Amino acid sequence: MQHIISSKELSKDKIESILNRSKEMEEACKKGTVEPILKDKIVACIFFEPSTRTRLSFETASLKLGAQVISAENAETNSSAYKGETIEDTTKILSSYADIIVIRHHTAGMLLRASKVSNKPVINAGDGANEHPSQALLDLYTIQKEHGRLDNLTIAFGGDLTHSRTLHSLVPLLTLYPNNTFYFISPKELALPKEYTDSLQKNGVNFKEMNTLKDGLKDADILYMTRVQKERFENAEDYEKVKDLFILKKEHLAEMKKNAIIMHPLPKINEIELEVDSDPRASYFRQAENGLYVRMAMLEYVLKG
Ligand code: CP
Repeated sequence: MQHIISSKELSKDKIESILNRSKEMEEACKKGTVEPILKDKIVACIFFEPSTRTRLSFETASLKLGAQVISAENAETNSSAYKGETIEDTTKILSSYADIIVIRHHTAGMLLRASKVSNKPVINAGDGANEHPSQALLDLYTIQKEHGRLDNLTIAFGGDLTHSRTLHSLVPLLTLYPNNTFYFISPKELALPKEYTDSLQKNGVNFKEMNTLKDGLKDADILYMTRVQKERFENAEDYEKVKDLFILKKEHLAEMKKNAIIMHPLPKINEIELEVDSDPRASYFRQAENGLYVRMAMLEYVLKG
């Protein structure tokens, strides 16, 4: 039995095995030849925070593989967590009903707590500003598909680097591949937490921190934009100060490489101008679709290895 709680626990071999299976899942979906390898299994999708892509793609992935789904989409108010039940008790109950448990929670560290008491595989679908490993795996899959490699890339991350759990899971995965360079572009209030920059420094990874989007565009093979996460701010005033500082505009596109790609975990609000969507380099809708194939591979992986 395998849990997927943190991307930092994934070895290169495990990642490559999930990415290879994701490709096979994509081909099978497109040919209509998906095998019901999770027939008679039940997947529980319990979300304490809102989601469109993660919950619905895990549910679609489960159904495509022949599993059945039980879910709580507003678990904060519609499950017994509302009455004060602990994550440990909720998870113990879920593990007596379901074969795989997918949980999103607003508090960092809750998924680790859930995994410690579960006798069924638990997948972290996002815990606070901490991690979002299934997003990071689908991001890797997208990069490999669009660039044909995961090494020798310059990746510029723009926006809210403090709260982006996606980025916190993706950067450690990309550092497993040689000669990647990171640009972290944000206002100082939204900089990447020090634990991440310290770890990159310790491991001799090439990175630069910058304050203007324009500075990172020219060299980037990937521009990874993130949303300023209103829900993580303690007061509205602090959010208002930074919410519009980083907007990717149509005029920026001329400065980017012809074969660069623009990624975003979505949802996007106003950090990418609408006109950018029609540029072929905008890969975020393709990226979201890839989530389905990668989550199919993840469900298989946690159950069967
Ligand atoms: N990228 C992502 O986690 O999207 P949702 O919040 O819609 O699941």
